[in-house]
Amino acid sequence: MNSISLIALTGVAAATLSACSSESPDPVEQIIVREPGEVAAPARSEGTATTDILAAGSAAFAACASCHSVEAGEPSGAGPNLHGVVGRPAGSLDDFAYSEAMSASSLVWNEGELDAFLANPTGGVPGTSMVAGGVDDAEQREAIIAYLASLSE
Ligand code: HEC
Repeated sequence: MNSISLIALTGVAAATLSACSSESPDPVEQIIVREPGEVAAPARSEGTATTDILAAGSAAFAACASCHSVEAGEPSGAGPNLHGVVGRPAGSLDDFAYSEAMSASSLVWNEGELDAFLANPTGGVPGTSMVAGGVDDAEQREAIIAYLASLSE
């Protein structure tokens, strides 16, 4: 009996040892897989609420993407590139021909201004050439603005 349990113990010890030695000394703690075009979530720890709102904003931005590029350095399309738009003076990109109204608005796109503009573009900036793309749903505007803000980082 005694010798059998000793053998069993030795077996466990050997298995444990070999398991240890086959492991790499620096285990990879986290692997992040991203699809191309997916929003890069900031690496710092964040609640799921933030992740959800960015995902919702990214999805809702599909309604804007036909006119607006968002990657840094991407040329403007039918509308100006929106990379880093939060905190940017309105009408300030060199590669886009803004309306007179937008150029003269002297707005700076903070979250409140963006919300008002997206709720009603032609009311927010009368005379704007952005005649489509208004968003009625307040939560959707908030998500889109959070998404745009995340692109400035
Ligand atoms: C049909 C094309 C079109 C769509 C769709 C559209 N936009 Fe625009 N957007 C424009 C144009 C054109 C301008 C320039 C307006 C001007 O000069 O008066 C503009 C301007 C803007 C600006 C001001 C940028 C700056 O540099 O001052 C913001 C912010 C903006 N759009 C956000 C959005 C968002 C967010 C959406 C989606 C919810 C959206 N737009 C949908 C065409 C579009």
